Amino acid sequence: MNIPIHRFDAIIVGAGLAGLAAARELESHGKHVAVISKLHPLRSHSGAAQGGINAALKDKDSIDSHMFDTIKGSDYLADQDAVKLMCEGAPETIRWVEGMGVVFSREKNGDIAQRPFGGQSFPRACYAKDRTGLTLLQTIFEQADRDGVEYWDEWYVADIIQEDKNVYGVVAYNLKTLEPAIFNAKAVMLATGGYARAYKINSNAHANTGDGLSIYARHGLPLKDMEFVQFHPTGLAGTGILISEAARGEGGRLFNSEGERFMEKYAPEKMELAPRDLVSRAITKEILEGRGIGPNKDAVYLDLTHLGKDKILSRLPELRDLAITFLGLDMIQEPIMIAATAHYSMGGIPVDNEGRAKLNQEHRIHGLYAAGECACVSVHGANRLGANSLLEAIFFGRHVGQTIASDLNDKDFLIHKKPDMKDADRMLNEINNILTSSGDEKVPVLRAELQESMTKNAGVFRTEESLLKQRRKLKNLRERFKNIRIDDKSKIYNTDLQEALELGHMLDYSLFIIEGAIARKESRGAHFRDDYPKRDDKNFLKHTYATMNENGEINMEYKDVQLGIFEPQERTY
Ligand code: FUM
Repeated sequence: MNIPIHRFDAIIVGAGLAGLAAARELESHGKHVAVISKLHPLRSHSGAAQGGINAALKDKDSIDSHMFDTIKGSDYLADQDAVKLMCEGAPETIRWVEGMGVVFSREKNGDIAQRPFGGQSFPRACYAKDRTGLTLLQTIFEQADRDGVEYWDEWYVADIIQEDKNVYGVVAYNLKTLEPAIFNAKAVMLATGGYARAYKINSNAHANTGDGLSIYARHGLPLKDMEFVQFHPTGLAGTGILISEAARGEGGRLFNSEGERFMEKYAPEKMELAPRDLVSRAITKEILEGRGIGPNKDAVYLDLTHLGKDKILSRLPELRDLAITFLGLDMIQEPIMIAATAHYSMGGIPVDNEGRAKLNQEHRIHGLYAAGECACVSVHGANRLGANSLLEAIFFGRHVGQTIASDLNDKDFLIHKKPDMKDADRMLNEINNILTSSGDEKVPVLRAELQESMTKNAGVFRTEESLLKQRRKLKNLRERFKNIRIDDKSKIYNTDLQEALELGHMLDYSLFIIEGAIARKESRGAHFRDDYPKRDDKNFLKHTYATMNENGEINMEYKDVQLGIFEPQERTY
């Protein structure tokens, strides 16, 4: 079969903030760039980020304080040189997006307004009401579009093209027509988002299935720190839809069924503005101990009524609409119901501080880069602070764009290797197998079982027993996945096929989450083991590097954390 080959200097997979920031940077260096994505860029999941983007802008704040809060928040698993790079680059990142026209909310004196967020010693989240991600996405998209970035949206990237230590393109198919194509480039950047959709209650967009992670891992390449999944404290009850931390930043309070403001027990100093791992555990514990509210007693109250109508309408209008639409509750008049929701992935594709993807702990793989939530440069360690993800996406997206531009200028950098038609075989075989399979398992059933069991067995609280149970469940689901059948055999917008491919990815990366969590016999940040409730720096102040072989077996290695600025301390709030 002859397949069209499209050639570029660089290809970016994923059109969220990291992908667009990199694309804009590359285009400004005169490089020919394509952004390939499943969705139109403005529907990327970055647009769902609500509350803010961190930068130490004020005289009373400092880069050191931003670094310290981030490293303490990470439960000391963040690599401190990477955190320094990001926090030092934060003010310039804000100026960069402001220069493009991002309309931030303002103080009366014209300064960019900044609100408090959890685990921070200073109000440093810059925001655009409660639509910060969307505002940033719209502006950067507009600019990159004007500059000539080529968008290939509604294309599904199914594989990278790799030979030995080099990557020189991707293989994709058109979601509208099933037409395959090879995209050939000297540099490929993955910006494909995180893995929280492995969970039933999550805040992630339907399409945000984190495919890039397993595309990478299926080449025998390592994934890092995958056991660390962030549960955001305030998802709308029942659905998990994000209710921004901005709600607590503006003064929101949490109450249980007995009317207790229970954070007094868990974080007497920071209260509702403790970091996410701690607040999510507090909420979940209240529910597990029988002090939940609602028909199933599986939520707690988030009360904003004391903020008053004007503040809610001017700062949190989107949140109010969400609660009215999905719960029928108006936060101006009454408390709303929330519970923890899987939200963010701290682990991912290991990259160095310049965004170059790793072949193993020591060596890079030439031509491959990653940024944003799919990457693990390790600025978040075991628990990310709110409003550091928009910062990471834009700062590292742009920074990796600069790396690629400079690598492309190096005449010794990889030449354009001409792809072979057989580079597309893996994707074509996979598609063909799914379209022709006549088994009796259904994708939505397997996906629901995966998500329910991950929430139950590998959620906010974990134990050896629950994780081993989940290992067995995954084995069962992966076997059954070989026996699926999809009903739609057509070539036009075949979402059955797409969802089957996505489920394959979810099943693969869930293995890494579970094996990493079984092996990490301690509690650190978002990974809390009831059977090992203490942090164990002696044995586990280390990053997990895991690889998968062709039989789906995971091999685990560890790598020391990069310290050097702040020594690990006990973490209290
Ligand atoms: O709560 C929020 O607005 C989410 C922000 C984030 O995840 O950084």
